[in-house]
Amino acid sequence: MTDYKPLMMQALEARKKSYSPYSHFCVGAALLTKSGKVYTGCNIESASYTPTNCAERTAIFKAVSEGERDFEAIAIVGGRANEKGGFCAPCGVCRQVIAEFCDKDFKIVLGDEEKIEVHTLGEMLPYSFTNKNL
Ligand code: THU
Repeated sequence: MTDYKPLMMQALEARKKSYSPYSHFCVGAALLTKSGKVYTGCNIESASYTPTNCAERTAIFKAVSEGERDFEAIAIVGGRANEKGGFCAPCGVCRQVIAEFCDKDFKIVLGDEEKIEVHTLGEMLPYSFTNKNL
């Protein structure tokens, strides 16, 4: 079984860049491409709130804008600014964006440096509406 700890460590590192002055909830993500590259992201908030971008989407948009579309896994870590990051499930919008590019077996890695849970997109977004439905 794949060891996703290095990917989780990169998500923890990315979390340090979180710009979250309103929620004080810091999230980091590390997206692994099928070719082995990693794109990281953090959440970026806005004074008008709705433009806020989650860490997962920051990583995905960075990768797609660089021409990458084949992804294997994403590690996510989140938590309050003054606390150590830990388990943080992706929001519904991020699950939908993941489903735009990834199959049901795409791995969603949650936890922290000590404990890691590996889920799949199929598990986290069942009965999804994707480009296959159009
Ligand atoms: N957030 C993420 O970055 N990813 C998630 O999956 C959950 C929520 C961010 C958005 C916002 O900046 C803060 O966490 C609180 O919701």
